[in-house]
Amino acid sequence: MGVPALEVLGISKDFGRIIALRGVSFSVQSGEFVSILGRNGAGKTTLLNIISGVSRPSEGEVKLFGTDPSDRENKAKLAVISHEMFLYGNLTAIENLEYYSRIYNVPNPKQRIETVLNDVELTHRRFDLVATYSRGMTQRLTIARALLHEPSLLLLDEPFTGLDQHAIGMLITLLKKQKEMGRTILLTTHDLHTANELSDRYIVISKHKIVMDGLMTDTNPDAIREKFFSAEAGGIDS
Ligand SMILES: Nc1ncnc2c1ncn2[C@@H]1O[C@H](COP(=O)(O)OP(=O)(O)OP(=O)(O)O)[C@@H](O)[C@H]1O
Ligand SMILES: [Mg+2]
Repeated sequence: MGVPALEVLGISKDFGRIIALRGVSFSVQSGEFVSILGRNGAGKTTLLNIISGVSRPSEGEVKLFGTDPSDRENKAKLAVISHEMFLYGNLTAIENLEYYSRIYNVPNPKQRIETVLNDVELTHRRFDLVATYSRGMTQRLTIARALLHEPSLLLLDEPFTGLDQHAIGMLITLLKKQKEMGRTILLTTHDLHTANELSDRYIVISKHKIVMDGLMTDTNPDAIREKFFSAEAGGIDS
């Protein structure tokens, strides 16, 4: 095995008096698909923000492909899909994607833009301002924008939110394709069956720590739900 795609080394994060993460460590090999599971407030988004370099840990460090997340080369290797859309409402879909193609130096941008728009089924709305899109359409364009530069590591924070059943199927197919291409993927979701369908491995965070880290084939989603998401266990990890 070569250098891991991702190493999370003893990460803790506090927001003033609020504890978000405590001593979280794991590593992910290239090509692995890992689902991060946990109740509301468990620390999943905080973890992805630290991995992508948006937020700094209070303690510990992260390595992407063996180096610091802030390394210029890592920016080109990474894609983030989160609640932040990173899209300009006053530009059309095409204009947004042209802008990101320039930032990421995407080769053959015209062709690549056509491909990603087709992948998320937005070709027919490509000349419309993003401000006029529905929520699900905006989410689809966010996915197209993230995949545009063919990143090696994808960080997906609840990417199914706001998508209809058809679009959920479309994203699942896209993610399976990404996996076949050898991309490394970290996904947070509350949909344990989708996590099971897509991932090789799952990590459960509870009360700011990793409480389970195992292979999907060795478990079943209902057992995880029963243990960590049941009504008796409470709804929020604060
Ligand atoms: N900017 C912030 N300022 C203060 N507290 C924060 C901030 N961001 C997160 N927190 C706190 O850190 C904890 C973890 O939050 P986080 O958003 O990482 O949870 P999550 O697992 O993503 O939850 P959800 O499933 O609801 O998305 C929570 O207690 C939250 O209130
Ligand atoms: Mg979250």
